[in-house]
Amino acid sequence: TLRAVVRGVGHYLPERVVPNSEFEDMVDTSDEWIVARTGIERRHFAAEGQTTSDMAAEAARRALDMAGLEPSDIDAIIVATSTADLTFPSAATMVQDRIGMTGGFAFDVQAVCAGFVFALANANALIVSGQAKRVIVIGAETFSRILDWEDRTTCVLFGDGAGALILEAQEGGGTTADRGILSTDLNSDGRHRDILYVDGGVSTQSTGHLRMQGKEVFRHAVEKLAETAHAALDKAGLGADDVDWIVPHQANLRIIKSTASKMGVGMDRVVVTVQDHGNTSAASIPLALSVGVERGQIKEGDLVVTEAIGGGLAWGSVVLRW
Ligand code: ACO
Repeated sequence: TLRAVVRGVGHYLPERVVPNSEFEDMVDTSDEWIVARTGIERRHFAAEGQTTSDMAAEAARRALDMAGLEPSDIDAIIVATSTADLTFPSAATMVQDRIGMTGGFAFDVQAVCAGFVFALANANALIVSGQAKRVIVIGAETFSRILDWEDRTTCVLFGDGAGALILEAQEGGGTTADRGILSTDLNSDGRHRDILYVDGGVSTQSTGHLRMQGKEVFRHAVEKLAETAHAALDKAGLGADDVDWIVPHQANLRIIKSTASKMGVGMDRVVVTVQDHGNTSAASIPLALSVGVERGQIKEGDLVVTEAIGGGLAWGSVVLRW
């Protein structure tokens, strides 16, 4: 059986690091409140003129380097983002051009904070169906461009960045001990669009700002994340005891802890980067995967469970043997 196996991973964070204290001059907030309620200590913000595809291309180059691959070895690029440079073309085709890849195909996936999980499931389907042999899956965002700097309930939560994962078709034994993506679980429910959205867009002729009812999102998150992770593990015929690492979407440390506890997985088996990155939406999971590898946490053969929820609502989970 064909499996989508991880060949490389890489990430890029913009140079500018913004500590919580910088927000104290802008809105009525404090470092103590932000750390206690979210776990966030700092985040990176893109420089003026620096775009989502700039960061995505840099993350892709680093993943290619780690894999020892050339752009010409790649068949497809999928970028998960809600903050593409332009309305069109896709950020993915811009990355394609930037890394000098002239063949294959590229497209964007938009499922907000769940975008990387949706993109991974798409890449897996392309590989398993034989449409593509090697796919770069990227999560990249510049959420700093859609923040309302007068709204203390949202502007302190988000950051910018990009992460990239290279998947390769490999013939394997087809057991859960073999490397590669083992299962995927995707969900959305458009009835909840009012609790997390941007109040602008192309057909409304504005860019808009992120609007969120934090408490409501929190309530859905703690319920749906454990559910989808269990569903994905179930499909693979695995249980929580088999998990080496949960790599969750990094929105809020309290959501991460509560999901891990619902799954019966100790925090010593969870990759946490939210303190350094804030919520980077679709970029948060590939950033955490890359940092997790750099730190020596995630090793070849480990069972990794990713899970995410975001605007839509859209949520899902991917289980893979690293
Ligand atoms: N600094 C100081 N006080 C604040 C701040 C701030 N930055 N933000 C809110 N407060 C105040 C509120 O105004 C409120 O004051 P009040 O009681 O006088 O009205 C008080 O703190 C408590 O506010 P709550 O909203 O009840 O605080 P909560 O503990 O729920 O934390 C938070 C808010 C952090 C937003 C939390 O609800 C959360 O993390 N929700 C989930 C958000 C999330 O994960 N979103 C991303 C999803 S992914 C995506 O698709 C983008």
